[in-house]
Amino acid sequence: MQAHQVLTIDGKDFLVEEGMRLLDFIKAQKLSFVPSICYNESLGPIETCDSCIVEVNGQLQRACSTMIENGMVVNTQVEKVKSAQKQALDRVLEHHELYCTVCDYNNGNCEIHNTMGEFGLEHQSNPFKSKGYEKDYGAFYRYDPDQCILCGRCVEVCQDVQVNETLTIDWKRNEPRVIWDNDKAIDESSCVNCGQCVTVCPCNALMENNMLGKAGYMTNQEPGLLRSMIELTKKAETGYGPLFAISDSEAAMREETIEKTKTVCTYCGVGCSFDVWTKDREILRVLPHEDSPANHISTCVKGKFAWDYVNSEERLQKPLVRKDGYFQEVEWDEALSVISNRFSEIKNQYGKDALAFISSSKCTNEESYLMQKLSRQVIGTHNVDNCSRYCQAPATQGLFRTVGYGGDSGSIEDLEKAEMVITIGTNTAEAHPVIASKIKRAHKLLGQKLYVFDIRKHEMAERADKFYKPNPGTDLVWLSAVTKYIIDQDWHNKAFISEWVNDFETYYESLEPFTLEYAENKTGISQAELKHIAKQITEVNTLSICWAMGVTQHRIGSDTSTAISNLLLVTGNYMRPGTGAYPLRGHNNVQGCSDMGSMPNTFPGYQDVSDDEIRHKFEKAWNVSLDSERGLDNHEMIDSIHEGKLHSLYIKGEDTGVVDANINYVRAAFEKIDFLVVQDLFLSKTAEFADVVLPASPSLEKDGTFTNTERRIQRINKALEPLGDSKPDWEIIQLIAQSLGVDWDYKHPSEIWFEAQELMPLVKGVTYDRLEGFDSLQWPMNDDGSDTPLLYTERFNFPDGKAKLYPLEFNIESKQTEEMSLHVNNGRVLEHFHEGNMTYQVPGLKYKLPRNFCEISEELAKEHGIENGARVKITSKVGTTEVNVQVTDRVTGNYIYIPLNDQNEGAPNFITDSDVDKDTNTPAYKDNYAKLEVISKKGESPIPKHNSRFGTRQPQISVRVQDKWNQSSYTFPGKGGDA
Ligand code: SF4
Ligand code: SF4
Ligand code: SF4
Ligand code: FES
Repeated sequence: MQAHQVLTIDGKDFLVEEGMRLLDFIKAQKLSFVPSICYNESLGPIETCDSCIVEVNGQLQRACSTMIENGMVVNTQVEKVKSAQKQALDRVLEHHELYCTVCDYNNGNCEIHNTMGEFGLEHQSNPFKSKGYEKDYGAFYRYDPDQCILCGRCVEVCQDVQVNETLTIDWKRNEPRVIWDNDKAIDESSCVNCGQCVTVCPCNALMENNMLGKAGYMTNQEPGLLRSMIELTKKAETGYGPLFAISDSEAAMREETIEKTKTVCTYCGVGCSFDVWTKDREILRVLPHEDSPANHISTCVKGKFAWDYVNSEERLQKPLVRKDGYFQEVEWDEALSVISNRFSEIKNQYGKDALAFISSSKCTNEESYLMQKLSRQVIGTHNVDNCSRYCQAPATQGLFRTVGYGGDSGSIEDLEKAEMVITIGTNTAEAHPVIASKIKRAHKLLGQKLYVFDIRKHEMAERADKFYKPNPGTDLVWLSAVTKYIIDQDWHNKAFISEWVNDFETYYESLEPFTLEYAENKTGISQAELKHIAKQITEVNTLSICWAMGVTQHRIGSDTSTAISNLLLVTGNYMRPGTGAYPLRGHNNVQGCSDMGSMPNTFPGYQDVSDDEIRHKFEKAWNVSLDSERGLDNHEMIDSIHEGKLHSLYIKGEDTGVVDANINYVRAAFEKIDFLVVQDLFLSKTAEFADVVLPASPSLEKDGTFTNTERRIQRINKALEPLGDSKPDWEIIQLIAQSLGVDWDYKHPSEIWFEAQELMPLVKGVTYDRLEGFDSLQWPMNDDGSDTPLLYTERFNFPDGKAKLYPLEFNIESKQTEEMSLHVNNGRVLEHFHEGNMTYQVPGLKYKLPRNFCEISEELAKEHGIENGARVKITSKVGTTEVNVQVTDRVTGNYIYIPLNDQNEGAPNFITDSDVDKDTNTPAYKDNYAKLEVISKKGESPIPKHNSRFGTRQPQISVRVQDKWNQSSYTFPGKGGDA
């Protein structure tokens, strides 16, 4: 039973649960107004503003940092409290000039404005004093020291929530201010522009550049004019009451022009949600909430700032049809009739399986459902796939084999609870920045152990307790050897295995080859370290393992994913918060795109096309007859074009000609194919090969749902009308289906979702009204209508409820030769997403990282006599790419690294070959060897000096308010000091 305590506030008694903060209680009960400017529920007490002072048992103290104790007597309204609070607020206004009517932050949520208004402050005793520093404009946001009240929220989030450790307050100066690194300009610092500091700033000291001069009716003025307006406003009003009245009405008028629409990020699989503020087509700001289920107040630079692509002049706004070799803009009717005629002709001439469809993991669940329905119901083929084939299919396969669901075991917040996190082949801080922040925070503040396995040193590796660099493609070996060693030492979780796991004996026998000696030999990790890893794993109560493309994009990606799950099962690390498997999903909706059936072997909800009962269900629902044989995956589609069997391909929102492996081969297929339809935002490289190009709308221009890496289904809402004649993808697919003679008549994505969930036990019962606002649900849905944030609490997803250990072998030969001796790795960078089609349309990101590059080690640079900026040609057995070199210690020896974000001659997929994961056909992107030739020995560094990677972080815990209190000029309000 919950213990209660008696608390007296302003003469009234209350029963209060244990463990509550006094300020939270006063606010929740709405007892009386207690100002609180630095306090933010997401951050806890920072104690810098002193405005929340109340009297507790006769003493003045800060309510935000006071935990309620039994018998406490609190006064909030007595004169000495009011006077101390006024003194604190006066000090705030010494640092912040009130010119609300002409301030872009005056949108009803300025915490200084609201606090002063509610407190009833009419006059300030101490005048505003400039600190004497210039404003600093970064690529995405600006800092105005004169408006900064030194509350330290920004420091708190940067240090302890985002854990980028850029910001501090230098309390020792005569005029303290926030500083970036060791006093650098924003753009010269280690700031990664996650924007959390801007999100939590209670006033206009930190502002999104996009808001400046745009939010208010009178804020778009030249600086001189703005200054005189500020002076005029202040002179015209005596006391703050009337000033606030005017600015409040102006703020209310802004409500009519600024729309706030909840949406979900369209980049990575973390699934950050937020409100996007728009004014006409202008995107002013993105504001995450404490209620945002995956991210709370966090974002990364892409979710917070990277939306300019939506209004890019390069957006396609009309359908294009190729005529006499050239594209011509046409009306929709014409484009649709070309498509329906060609689809019908090809189907009549070569049969239904001569057509294929590729869905987009950037599009909504509803659009994935419709794409596979078009393929199956209208054309009659299972030839439909999506880009999870390029990254996530092996992880899904590994989990299907062992635990039964192809998704993260728990929620992102469960990861924070793990005593130990192992990451394998994931550059989490750049590819999944908000998940990385949660891990970095748990590691920094909560004692979480972090072990990182990767072939390249990235931020997570730098932060890890232990960083191991196994030889490329050998993770399966160390994982299996550690598992074997754990069992050999009798450290495995016997009770868990006996209750929950099948096939232990057969599995243990299969581990025989994985001795420590063998593993050391193959992986390069010493036997002593392997023993240490095994011991460490068995010493913690909760272990979670995160992995990504560094594991899956190998010839044995599925097997290595399976080995991860085997290790978790043997050590009993499933079924509890803080345990389990976390394959970090790449694109925003790569989970949902597969869930919804854009797969050649499964209907929506992973229901097997070869299962008669299931197939009959869909045949009945769609009134067609369907094959029991699976269709082609996207890898097989390309082969099939070369073989002359596939004659038509419809690609939605996917730049296959850049992101597939061995793109010379892929592009040659596009040249051969009879009919290619591409639907996208831009005229992508793939679209350049098309016969018809259809202009689609991005997420901000449509309704629907996305499913993130945690299996969390979230609503996106339309914030803008589609640009020009572009249309949401679901509308386009429906128009194509109608032009082929079917009677689809969806008026809204909710109708598509409703139909889909009726056919999918996985998500049955999820309806749009359960996804209102920031509400979300995590599949699988239970019969009682509840969702499943943590998988496997009662059973694994097999008929007997038990998991399975899956035996594995390792018999991969290295592709390294004397001539092709350099290992070429590829992957993500923070600033650009995947091939960069959207992020290169964002000027701020282009400024931070204008072009692709190739990281090479100092040793290799020396060997070739080259310097930073040198131009090199990297040639594998299938092709060549040309890039400028960044010499760095992130890579060592013969390892080189090329980011994915280049569509031109620097695209890494010119040199990746057609080898695939043997179980899923996922390209082995990370398994390449090449040679390097020098084009020029030096040149301009490809990464500009103002990129965050050249900054110098300043780690500390919190804002160090003690340093403020130690200032000789500081006095606690109410105890002397200011007049
Ligand atoms: S990394 Fe930059 S944007 Fe993010 S909180 Fe720190 S200073 Fe602010
Ligand atoms: S810039 Fe930082 S310290 Fe200054 S007011 Fe904003 S959050 Fe507070
Ligand atoms: S890219 Fe990923 S981490 Fe960044 S805001 Fe979007 S969903 Fe969040
Ligand atoms: S809210 Fe308590 S010190 Fe600022």
